[in-house]
Amino acid sequence: MAQTRCIQLQARRNDADRCVPALTLARGAAAAEPEAADRRRLLLRQLAADVERVSGIAVTAMLEAKLARVLASVALPELASWTGRLRALPGDDPEWLSLIETLTVHETFFHRDGSQLDLLRHILREAIAGAASAGRYRLRLWSAGCATGEEAYTLAILSLRALVETGFADEMRDGGVACRAPWQVDVLGTDISRLALAQASAAVYSTEGLSPFRDLPPTLRRFFPAAAGRSAAARSVHSSVIRHVRFRQFNLIAAAPPDIGFDIVLCRNVLIYLTEPARHTAQSVLRQALRPGGYLLLGPTDFLAEPSAYTARWDSGSVAYRLKQQR
Ligand SMILES: C[S@@+](CC[C@H](N)C(=O)[O-])C[C@H]1O[C@@H](n2cnc3c(N)ncnc32)[C@H](O)[C@@H]1O
Repeated sequence: MAQTRCIQLQARRNDADRCVPALTLARGAAAAEPEAADRRRLLLRQLAADVERVSGIAVTAMLEAKLARVLASVALPELASWTGRLRALPGDDPEWLSLIETLTVHETFFHRDGSQLDLLRHILREAIAGAASAGRYRLRLWSAGCATGEEAYTLAILSLRALVETGFADEMRDGGVACRAPWQVDVLGTDISRLALAQASAAVYSTEGLSPFRDLPPTLRRFFPAAAGRSAAARSVHSSVIRHVRFRQFNLIAAAPPDIGFDIVLCRNVLIYLTEPARHTAQSVLRQALRPGGYLLLGPTDFLAEPSAYTARWDSGSVAYRLKQQR
């Protein structure tokens, strides 16, 4: 009888290897027979197809090779029974999420893509004026595929600054910003990866190496005070920003969005990793999340799946898509 033991899948993110929760598998000698090698290849091909079905992530030859590496030490009979069992599990089962985490790329940083954020500044000011005249006094933004949270915090900081500029929030002595009542800012950050979200919620970032602060304009440094009780290189996000941001695990190829009525939805550098059908599904989810008149911002190489639903707005070399009002 095969001996079972836990193996750790290694997930590479931000230049550091991290272990994701263990998958319980039997471990044994790698297949030596040619038929066994063929059978293993077939199982990995099926697993790749299942990963695409569950996550929407396109399993390229490179990712397939990574899957093969990650599972190289798992004996063929156990690989067969594990992949069969996995197939029967729902896509949000921790075992699926652990596997998917080994395949996702969480590269991100604060204030990524200055020209798109310049456009966002204009949109925010208009959204504030529109909300104020409608008596809504609330800004709602969604960072879809937020990885370790830098994008969601950037959205919150830009929203708070836009409120200061329009006279609806005040600068605080400690570097933060306080909204004037009854204004509220609500930023939702979602990702498929629980590991990335755990780091996002911790809201502590290192200034060392290829730091997430590398593109941060000096005027925004005040939103990142030294992290109490951590190394000198650790910065936390200002509490006046954190209070407006919440994180939630969410797979973008869901049947419905995590919430609706957003003024702005930002989904950058996520769709590029998905299969074509998954991109369409994800963009339908993003559209459903917007309120009429709300804006969708995508990555520079993303195509718009439902162009007739939006009007395009170009500014500062970037484009944003405004959801048409319903007739
Ligand atoms: C390169 S990061 C992008 C981070 C950020 N949006 C940016 O541009 O800096 C891509 C993120 O998409 C997430 N992702 C991939 N497939 C996803 C899916 N089906 N649903 C939700 N998030 C997904 C990954 O976990 C990863 O954190």
